[in-house]
Amino acid sequence: MLRIVVCVSGGGTNLQAILDAIEQGKITNTEVTAVISNNANARALERARLKGIPAILMSPKEYPDREAYHEALTAKVCDLAPDLVVLAGFLVRIPPQLVEKFSNRIINIHPSLIPSFCGVGYYGLKVHEKVLERGVKVTGATVHFVNEGMDEGPIISQRAVEVEENDTPEILQRRVMEEAEWVLLPKAIDDIANGRIRVVDNKVLRCG
Ligand code: GRF
Repeated sequence: MLRIVVCVSGGGTNLQAILDAIEQGKITNTEVTAVISNNANARALERARLKGIPAILMSPKEYPDREAYHEALTAKVCDLAPDLVVLAGFLVRIPPQLVEKFSNRIINIHPSLIPSFCGVGYYGLKVHEKVLERGVKVTGATVHFVNEGMDEGPIISQRAVEVEENDTPEILQRRVMEEAEWVLLPKAIDDIANGRIRVVDNKVLRCG
């Protein structure tokens, strides 16, 4: 059984996609053991509570500085001892010490086709604003392992999504979520839970 901890900051639609996929049997051999958020108002925490999953608030405001927060977040995740950490719209930079302890055991969903529109400053709606500003015709989403860089870890899966004439950032974000994020993230978790993925020379290989 793959024990996963999901880290969230916002609405939690990706968390919901994971919970629904487990309930529907689209993700097997997996249990969400806890949800962590940096944001007390994150609707994602309510989604966890509704399923009886421990919803843990770890707000940076409660800590004297970033280093203290990083230590506390790392300690909390280590206490929970998951097999996999899933970042589902988590807007906090993952502490380097946590990345080191969970090498190739942290995954993230990013709302673009990495290496486009990623890195510092590219998160949430901002990604889609930049996509529309640049006028690209195809965007999408990426699931990747998290390393010490920002959106630079080995890519697990990607899915393309058409940009349409009258898209606003909100309309495009919703389409990318529906057509890509909510499909890719559950599938990546199911693949990891069932041993279909491994990392060789910083590249993701599928086996089985
Ligand atoms: C999604 O667009 C995701 O790609 C990005 O942050 C947003 C989170 O949405 N990382 P939600 O909290 O899962 O609804």
